[in-house]
Amino acid sequence: MPCVPAIIVHGGAGKWSSAPSDRREAARRALMESAEAGLQIMEKGGTSVEAIVEAISHMESSGVFNSGRGSVANSDGFVEMDAGLMDGETLDSGAVASLRGIENPIRVALLVMKKTPHVILSGEGARRFALSNGFSEDPFLLSKRDQVSHRLVSRSEWRGDTVGAAAVDQLCHTAAGASTGGISGKMPGRIGDSPVPGAGFYANHFAAAAATGIGELILILGISRKIVEEATLLGSVKLSGKSLLEYTRSKFKDDTFGVIGIDIRGEYAAIYNTESMPYAYFKKGMESPLVGGFPAL
Ligand code: GLY
Repeated sequence: MPCVPAIIVHGGAGKWSSAPSDRREAARRALMESAEAGLQIMEKGGTSVEAIVEAISHMESSGVFNSGRGSVANSDGFVEMDAGLMDGETLDSGAVASLRGIENPIRVALLVMKKTPHVILSGEGARRFALSNGFSEDPFLLSKRDQVSHRLVSRSEWRGDTVGAAAVDQLCHTAAGASTGGISGKMPGRIGDSPVPGAGFYANHFAAAAATGIGELILILGISRKIVEEATLLGSVKLSGKSLLEYTRSKFKDDTFGVIGIDIRGEYAAIYNTESMPYAYFKKGMESPLVGGFPAL
């Protein structure tokens, strides 16, 4: 039986209450547009993987979030980005880590999945792979930032806006992906959860999920795989989201992570232990995306 295409996107777990209202408005608009772009692909018969790439590319190019053009810098003042995605039908995955100078790392991750025998390419190898496949360098992303905190941001100070998306298409195939500039002031070469299948994103025949927050914690607990596998057992991503929140309460401090998920019934979950995690959910038949996760004004 065909499924009703649906997508959920997020702009990162973190703190938005202190953001100026124009920045919040830009984030709301970018989330709605990326959910619309992703759903439109699937309504025209495209796959959930294509929808994920389109939705995340839109957020990367918006410059509003900590990914793509909006990426934060490392302690040397340079942007190094991580991104990855997974096809829930084939269980194929592709990712890039510590990639420099390319506006849409998620599109490079897609090519890693499609054109190489590998799952993750990093650093100079990832950049060379992108350039040899027609991507061009963005001088803005290559330039050194002046305003960098030359200290590692401690876990409790972290305020990130990684982006992610999870979708199901009309063939009931799911996909998920994530993209980020990582943690501001991170050590050069540091890799977070966003390019690692099972941690930053995961998808199978029933559900798909993407995580956001402190990569070091998400990596260790394999958050995205955990919510997807439990959703598969329980038959509901909503229920597994609730159970994950309970589980992480005993493992994580508050203000550390968030995750979005979707299942083939079109149910979604958006859970976080941070102040905010802006998201937009859009399903075929709805008039406009449902936006949530912003702090109350
Ligand atoms: N969740 C993004 C990062 O820690 O890099």
